[in-house]
Amino acid sequence: MPKKIIIDTDPGQDDAVAILLAAASREELQIEAIVAVAGNVGLAQNARNALKVVELSGRTDIPVYAGCSRPMRRRLVTAEHVHGETGLDGPVLPEPKIRLQEQHGVDFLIDKLRATPPGEITLCTLGPLTNVAMALVKAPDIAPRIKEIVMMAGGYFEMGNITPAAEFNVFVDPEAADVVLRSGVPIVMVPLDVTHTILSTRKRLDAIKAIGNRAGAAVEAMLSFSEAFDQQKYGREGAPLHDPCVIAYLLKPELFKGREINVVIETSSELTVGMTVADYWRVTDRPHNVLYLREGDAAGFYALLTERLARLP
Ligand code: RIB
Ligand code: CA
Repeated sequence: MPKKIIIDTDPGQDDAVAILLAAASREELQIEAIVAVAGNVGLAQNARNALKVVELSGRTDIPVYAGCSRPMRRRLVTAEHVHGETGLDGPVLPEPKIRLQEQHGVDFLIDKLRATPPGEITLCTLGPLTNVAMALVKAPDIAPRIKEIVMMAGGYFEMGNITPAAEFNVFVDPEAADVVLRSGVPIVMVPLDVTHTILSTRKRLDAIKAIGNRAGAAVEAMLSFSEAFDQQKYGREGAPLHDPCVIAYLLKPELFKGREINVVIETSSELTVGMTVADYWRVTDRPHNVLYLREGDAAGFYALLTERLARLP
């Protein structure tokens, strides 16, 4: 029986690869919807990118919604310096023919969770947690209805990427991350500690391009563009690949290792706002609210990604 998932996302090249990986995995994943959120670039562009990626995947059966256009309290911080002006620089993808759903993405999340038996839907969050937090604030009754949230968010041993202390998705909307981590919903956190070991080396990108289909060519172009910034920054062969790790965890959890710990979000200090304060060594008695992944099998991940991308048009 495929897992029912909703992907909340700010595409973003790595988000796009995550969506393609999920779209290619119909036996394991039933994508109920994709909901766009402001993050890598503005909401309208992220939503348009999500439509383009859905068309690229051939899965035009998947509805796409637009959610929140700014964080709960703060002004929006975007990342064109990494993802380019369009947020999906690299490949030239056709203007989407499919259209956004009319309903606001937050209201869709609430209605869908209320209409589905409890414990059936997994939320996969690939961007700031604004949509999910706003849904939880507007309709607290949905919390026990969510099976689990698998989120690309945070960092502890790797600290931050947008500031020395904070990972981008949490930094953009720390209050939203705080609401979600305090919600009581089961959470799997896929932090920089994992994604910084999942490097898109030239050899791995060449193997994806060698698949010979449209999806493979687009992914190689996307990641070749977005990795330039991180390669320059980290000076390593290949750039971290973040969001597809969320989908890979759902497909092959055995590729990852972690432990149940407490994570709290810094929301007030200007110096460290957005930091995920992870009690990895359990030095406090704070409740264990997340399964915090620390290790990933990069070779196994890229074998899975390449095999699944080959299933697409
Ligand atoms: O810090 C990495 C995260 O920020 C990824 O989700 C990437 O897409 C950006 O949104
Ligand atoms: Ca993202």
